[in-house]
Amino acid sequence: MNSDNHLTHVGIIMDGNGRWARSHGLKRIEGHKAAEKSIHDAVEYCGEMGVEYLTLYAFSTENWKRPKAEVIFIMTLLKSFIKRNIDDLDRNRVRIRAIGRLDDLPRGPLNELRNAMKRTGSNEGLNLILALSYGGRAEITDATIKIARDIEAGHMQASEITEDTITSCMYLPDVPDPDIIIRTSGEQRLSNFLLWESAYSELYFTDVLWPDFRRVHLEEAFEDYRSRRRRFGDLDSDR
Ligand code: IPE
Ligand code: IPE
Ligand code: MG
Repeated sequence: MNSDNHLTHVGIIMDGNGRWARSHGLKRIEGHKAAEKSIHDAVEYCGEMGVEYLTLYAFSTENWKRPKAEVIFIMTLLKSFIKRNIDDLDRNRVRIRAIGRLDDLPRGPLNELRNAMKRTGSNEGLNLILALSYGGRAEITDATIKIARDIEAGHMQASEITEDTITSCMYLPDVPDPDIIIRTSGEQRLSNFLLWESAYSELYFTDVLWPDFRRVHLEEAFEDYRSRRRRFGDLDSDR
């Protein structure tokens, strides 16, 4: 058994808030509200386990298609979530970061987010990365634009582009690829999450709806991860 798999970066696709609400006879927005406890558990447990990066998929580029009232509610919740939790997160040395087309966010939540990132910028605990108005294709598109501009400006030539060039133009180039991507609620797809970075990530799917996801479920996911063999295209080391 390969028990020394590193678990440096965990990605979570937090799905199933709407179905959780419906199953409790509540409105969809109540499901988004109930997600806060799950986020709290995940941040706490990852911190305790020495995970260095936790990326939470909170809002996709496609989620803007949802009814306006739901989008406004989620954005308002984002702002109040940061306000409510910033003191605790900062005290626990959590560094808040974000990926996505952040300029698409309404000014209120964006300012709150920017302040939180500034305030926690030198913290050396868990990197909590919020994926907001995030899409993997948008990220690759934005990277392509950067590279094309560099070529236009004469700083580089097309023939010099390598995989590292593209990686260095992603939103957070210092962050290593996710070791595991967890998706709740039974859906088995990436829905545009970390497309470039997930090339060799282990995928873990659970039927548990995000608002019901607790430490014990994360423990199960980590245990499953530890039992896997990551080969990255090579042969097993005990071949
Ligand atoms: C995930 O829960 C939260 C966001 C995508 C913002 P959903 O809102 O997608 O919940 P379901 O999938 O409809 O149950
Ligand atoms: C993915 O969930 C995005 C987030 C969890 C933020 P969705 O509910 O938007 O994904 P689909 O539409 O089921 O693929
Ligand atoms: Mg969903």
